[in-house]
Amino acid sequence: MPIREAYSSDLAALVAIENQCFTSDRLSRRSLRYFLASPSATLLVAETRGVVAGYSLIAFRKGSAIARLYSIAVDQAFRGRNLGQALLKASEKAARARNATCMRLEVRSRNRRAIALYEGQGYRRFDRIADYYEDGAAAYCYEKSLFASRKPTRD
Ligand SMILES: CC(C)(COP(=O)(O)OP(=O)(O)OC[C@H]1O[C@@H](n2cnc3c(N)ncnc32)[C@H](O)[C@@H]1OP(=O)(O)O)[C@@H](O)C(=O)NCCC(=O)NCCS
Repeated sequence: MPIREAYSSDLAALVAIENQCFTSDRLSRRSLRYFLASPSATLLVAETRGVVAGYSLIAFRKGSAIARLYSIAVDQAFRGRNLGQALLKASEKAARARNATCMRLEVRSRNRRAIALYEGQGYRRFDRIADYYEDGAAAYCYEKSLFASRKPTRD
């Protein structure tokens, strides 16, 4: 499934996915519109036969080599088909292209699906933040080095 940068014309589809996938801490239409145009963010979409099936949002800070996976979501109808994985890999590639050396993210401590996705892709848990979400849920903080893993060499 092709992954591409989002266009401003994807806004309605992004809002629909956001509303379907999250019950709290949703990105508003306004925020999504802002991120679509922001030079400090990359919004990627997975598209199948003209339908936007999922998205990921990576945020960058000037002077920082740490990229942040701000959000990732796949339409329920398209889950379990490795789209989340494809979006995550494409997000890492986009971060590398902007010279980031590390990707960080927060995830609800009870979001088993997302945690399985991140851990399966080599993310390491390094912190827990109590009362992080609007509904009081805790977040786990994960990170992954974006350097290609090298085989040890012998001198
Ligand atoms: C998390 C999410 C993006 C995963 O998308 P997806 O396209 O279904 O994921 P994939 O098909 O690429 O699966 C990737 C991994 O997730 C895990 N996974 C997928 N479906 C799962 C299920 N039903 N139960 C448990 N783990 C599951 C598996 O580890 C899987 O890897 P594997 O196929 O090698 O076993 C999707 O469930 C989603 O949008 N959830 C709601 C929004 C959300 O919670 N976003 C994360 C916010 S931090």
